[in-house]
Amino acid sequence: MTHKHSALRSKTAGFRFVDFLRREESFEEAFLDGMKASPRAIPCRFLYDAQGSALFDRICTLPEYYPTRTELSILEAHAGDIAKIIGPGAALIELGSGSSIKTRLLLDRMEAPAAYMPIDVSREHLRAAANGLAGDYPEIDVIAVCADYSAHFPLPAVDGRRVGFFPGSTIGNLTHGEARLLLAGWRERLGADGLMVVGVDLKKDPSRLLAAYDDAEGVTEAFIKNVLARANRELGADFDLSAFRYDVAWNEEAGRIEMRLEALADQSVAVAGERLFIGAGERIHIENSHKYAVEEFSALARRAGFSPRAVYIDPERLFSVHVLAAG
Ligand code: AVJ
Repeated sequence: MTHKHSALRSKTAGFRFVDFLRREESFEEAFLDGMKASPRAIPCRFLYDAQGSALFDRICTLPEYYPTRTELSILEAHAGDIAKIIGPGAALIELGSGSSIKTRLLLDRMEAPAAYMPIDVSREHLRAAANGLAGDYPEIDVIAVCADYSAHFPLPAVDGRRVGFFPGSTIGNLTHGEARLLLAGWRERLGADGLMVVGVDLKKDPSRLLAAYDDAEGVTEAFIKNVLARANRELGADFDLSAFRYDVAWNEEAGRIEMRLEALADQSVAVAGERLFIGAGERIHIENSHKYAVEEFSALARRAGFSPRAVYIDPERLFSVHVLAAG
């Protein structure tokens, strides 16, 4: 990979791995706490073990699941515009080391990017993604940061304007209050000339939304049920997956898709040496996916201290990519 302005780079680029993760979050503790809470709810980040991640990759290619391919098409069409706003010599900081395709689309259009800093809790996934990218972009400093991007940790120093990149509509997992707090925290970290590029799924006809989260092949159902399958694998649980129904709904008031599992019969389940009783009709909440009208998300960003700079939308108005300025 060659960059026109590589002469601007004064020192040799390198690769660093910084670890801020004190201890892995305990699935056992979170699962038992969540199953004893009222209403029962398991945090959706526990969906992504190796099998869950593979199922999510399949979701991304489903005909009904438009977000991934639509966001990619928006970035393909507008990475140049975004790069122009970013300017030369910037540091791209990715929240969650997701698809390197999206990252590369931006890095390829940016003028002499100084650094790439992926942040992720999944140590090995992070190392692999960061290594691959460092090999392909020898002129860019790659600083892999093993950390929870929603937690407080000291951001390693980097050269250049700091640009947060949070694609995939991952922000949709958060409530509006949580999203505002996350953005406000990053505004502080990015500094006065910082930018944030955020992928946000748009509100639309609920039937289109429901189809995206209830695909004909049942991949989404398997993905949501994976949290119970994972408990069976890792916590010695004996959940009967067929005794639960995947229950997906559009919550108009909250502006979100809610993904839950409903017990079809009374059941007694062993988990990590404990016994849980789940009554017929009881639900376990697994995931929220919030959707935003363009103005709604801009308003949320303003409440977090950002000034909306640009927003890019596909012709079908399915998905949006917001560029927010910290100043
Ligand atoms: C990874 C949070 C963006 O909400 O669309 C997809 C997760 N869950 N299908 C989404 C998901 C079920 C996805 N995000």
